[in-house]
Amino acid sequence: MQYSLISALLAATATTACTIPGGTLSNTITKPFGVLIQNPKYPAIHNKYMNLNAAGGGDRHLFLEPVPDPVRNLTLAAGVLTWPDGGIHAVIDGEYSAVDNTTKMFMTERGDPRAIFQPVYGCNPDNNDLQTQLKFVTRETSPTGGGVCLRIASGNRGYEFRYTPPNNPASDPTNFCMPATLIVIPEGTTISTGTVRPTTTAKPATPSKTTSKTTSSTKAPTASALPFTDMTSSGFSFVGCAPEERTAPNSPTGRTLVGSMSADDAMTEEKCIAFCKSGGYKYAGTEYTRECWCGNAVAAGRTPPSTAASLANCNFKCGGSASEYCGGNAYLSLYKSCAAGAACVNAKFT
Ligand SMILES: *[C@@H]1O[C@H](CO)[C@@H](O)[C@H](O)[C@H]1NC(C)=O
Ligand SMILES: *[C@@H]1O[C@H](CO)[C@@H](O)[C@H](O)[C@H]1NC(C)=O
Repeated sequence: MQYSLISALLAATATTACTIPGGTLSNTITKPFGVLIQNPKYPAIHNKYMNLNAAGGGDRHLFLEPVPDPVRNLTLAAGVLTWPDGGIHAVIDGEYSAVDNTTKMFMTERGDPRAIFQPVYGCNPDNNDLQTQLKFVTRETSPTGGGVCLRIASGNRGYEFRYTPPNNPASDPTNFCMPATLIVIPEGTTISTGTVRPTTTAKPATPSKTTSKTTSSTKAPTASALPFTDMTSSGFSFVGCAPEERTAPNSPTGRTLVGSMSADDAMTEEKCIAFCKSGGYKYAGTEYTRECWCGNAVAAGRTPPSTAASLANCNFKCGGSASEYCGGNAYLSLYKSCAAGAACVNAKFT
């Protein structure tokens, strides 16, 4: 009885999703936009932008940020993603992988089979905002259907965009191609994921951002230890868990550390500090298990709080070390180089 009541209530609250307007959206969008990727089941790709990495002959390869270059002025021409600047459009052709039966999607001026999308309304899975999604229709000359997925590119160059055919029987569990939803974000607007509104719908599992004790996917630190890694032996003291653009107050744009960055699925605090040290930077910060950011100053408004509670935002384990913490989702585990001859002491948290 109780169980059926609970499931009835859950079913009722699940209907609080946004209201989808009727009608059909045009498959031509002339107002410039960027493409955001969503799939809350896969935090590694969720809420990250599609970037256009320069390749030979004017082609652009599609990668997820932080692989450059950010582009927010794409358009859609009869269902085809187009970058008027480069005179190129999205196609699906090349670098076919038999292991998972997927083919690369990239942008070129040439006449390879195009990727065709249809704009549709959808609900943002984080905050129920109404959004415009690019529903994958087909790869020209192939059967209708299939989809876009993301997997790690060879040489560990970040996440690349792939086409998976309809009813694809193949899959590669060692480098799973994660299904992606493409969202239209008009140029000049920012994603609203930083201001997640409470929702009663069930959320897919994502790494916990509230407390490290409630997550089973990451090892909880011992009761006395706060979630940060002591790097004073490398000459860097821990400053705190600093917000990135999405999580900073008022969500201003721009990174917290703007010197240089590197990304590595096997990131550790040692690697990041060594990288920033080699560039002569004062600050080093790790984020999202695998990113390393360096700078000589912390951007305005990004100074980390001194509360122990704030450290819960930086409880992601490093990709290269399960005993170290490498930031969180849009939060940096921030370190500062210790002055020569002075004591190297981590910040205190209360
Ligand atoms: C489009 O975006 C690119 C990259 O941000 C920029 O270099 C270019 O000037 C933009 N083009 C237009 C027409 O705004
Ligand atoms: C690839 O997918 C297509 C479409 O589902 C299927 O016909 C074909 O057999 C698949 N090939 C491999 C190698 O899995």
